[in-house]
Amino acid sequence: MQLMVKARRYDHVLRVAELARAIAAANHLDADRAYLAGILHDIARDLPDSELLRLAPPEVPIDSAHPLALHGRAARTLLERWGYRDEVVLRAVEDHTTGPRSHCPVSACVYVADVSEPGRGVNEDIRELAMVDLEGALAQAISSKVHYLQARGIPVHPRTLSAYRALQARGALPCGDA
Ligand SMILES: [Fe+2]
Ligand SMILES: [Fe+2]
Repeated sequence: MQLMVKARRYDHVLRVAELARAIAAANHLDADRAYLAGILHDIARDLPDSELLRLAPPEVPIDSAHPLALHGRAARTLLERWGYRDEVVLRAVEDHTTGPRSHCPVSACVYVADVSEPGRGVNEDIRELAMVDLEGALAQAISSKVHYLQARGIPVHPRTLSAYRALQARGALPCGDA
């Protein structure tokens, strides 16, 4: 793992893994799997676009336009090739770029940890909220991403939109927009 990413990225990866584990433990979830998924989440982040497109063939136009966003799905493909079969970990790795599917709390831990790890210097509020209210922290993380992109006219990935709408359907976000 350490060999696959740049040194600075590896520091980020360790912070994400540790934070994902702490968030999982605070919410009575599987802390070991959250840590493992955190360690593995960015293994494809430093691959060239051509490799990302090969490992994660585009499913929607935005995938071809922004191959970097494929690094979650590409990482899953690599892990499967290496023999990983734990669907909870695979899903958390795959979905860390576009947002967790419903009823995947370990994915939520990794997603929230990735956007709020201390090295980013932002989202301290999300990090603190995640310790007591994971769903609320996820809602805040996903909605700020969606609103940020929409305000700039940048298309939102369909998987991110469905994560957003699922949070609305569960009452974690107000309905009516996006
Ligand atoms: Fe990533
Ligand atoms: Fe990351």
